Amino acid sequence: MTCTEYKFSISEMSRTQGMRMIAASLVLIVLAFLTSVAVHFRDDLADLAIKWAMRREPDLIIGSPRDPYMHRHFVIPKNRLFNIYLHRIMRDDDDRALHDHPWWSIGMIIRNHYFDIVPRIKTLFRKYGSGDLMAVRRDEWSITFRRAIDMHRIVLPGPGKQEAWTLFMTGPEVRDWGFWCPAGWRSSRVFGEKLDRASVVGRGCS
Ligand SMILES: [Fe+2]
Repeated sequence: MTCTEYKFSISEMSRTQGMRMIAASLVLIVLAFLTSVAVHFRDDLADLAIKWAMRREPDLIIGSPRDPYMHRHFVIPKNRLFNIYLHRIMRDDDDRALHDHPWWSIGMIIRNHYFDIVPRIKTLFRKYGSGDLMAVRRDEWSITFRRAIDMHRIVLPGPGKQEAWTLFMTGPEVRDWGFWCPAGWRSSRVFGEKLDRASVVGRGCS
């Protein structure tokens, strides 16, 4: 390579890198702007989302239709890789045991707050029996990331059990999910469902 060709390739490379830096900066500025707008109007956006959900039938009712645990609304078309749901949490999670999930998830509470019952010592791997538990308050607008193997149980606040709304994102299904009984993990298919306050199907931890 001659000296002239070398200078040319250096200047070409600098120009390309410069354009990339400008493009990246613009993207960051736009993202920062959109984020600040979303944060500023977040209560209004939450109102809009909740009104949207209340005007339509849920895409999925979890629990008994007579006493549902949760209404799930699909924000984007349901698919195998990535989903966004709006959750209307209407009562506490099944209190017989902590549960884990089939996918990783990121949840943001957009209305009200709740308590998360979690192991006092977070486990890196799937080894948990009947360890100490603690209640962690998840405030409105808090964001929680959970691996598929992370176990928990949601408890709504107050005697009135005021419902909570969350925006909930999940990745692809990567595993069977289940409940953590004192004797060990049990698949949800065996554990069964607590349909409402009076009726239970499945063997639970017994
Ligand atoms: Fe859960």
